[in-house]
Amino acid sequence: MQAIELVNMALAARENAYAPYSGISVGAALLTREGRVFTGVNVENVSYALTVCAERVAVVNAVSAGCRRFDALAVAWNKQGFCRPCGACRQVLYEFNPEMRIIMADYGGEYEEQQLKTLLPNSFEK
Ligand code: THU
Repeated sequence: MQAIELVNMALAARENAYAPYSGISVGAALLTREGRVFTGVNVENVSYALTVCAERVAVVNAVSAGCRRFDALAVAWNKQGFCRPCGACRQVLYEFNPEMRIIMADYGGEYEEQQLKTLLPNSFEK
């Protein structure tokens, strides 16, 4: 699958983000080795620390469906500049594939790609 296709799925997913506190809506699209795509959005809470990021929602969706082999994740938001996964999400994604392609997009679909292990060097490992 082309990176831009995954970015477009992340942008479409983002429409369902629940972000009344920050106003930052984030969408993620996670590609499995079998070619399935699972999406996620950020889900905020009035108790702010309970907020869940879009990337981790996508992982939870995929794992719940029995998929654990991930090749790529696209993440996009409603702002300028490339949307970068937070440190917690990098660690959660790393659990499944340090070689994963991470495609980071802006609100208009421009993007940059890096490998997860470059984004999370010297990580805590099993
Ligand atoms: N957020 C994500 O969805 N993914 C990240 O990697 C970083 C942050 C969300 C959480 C919160 O709803 C909003 O962005 C502002 O922090």
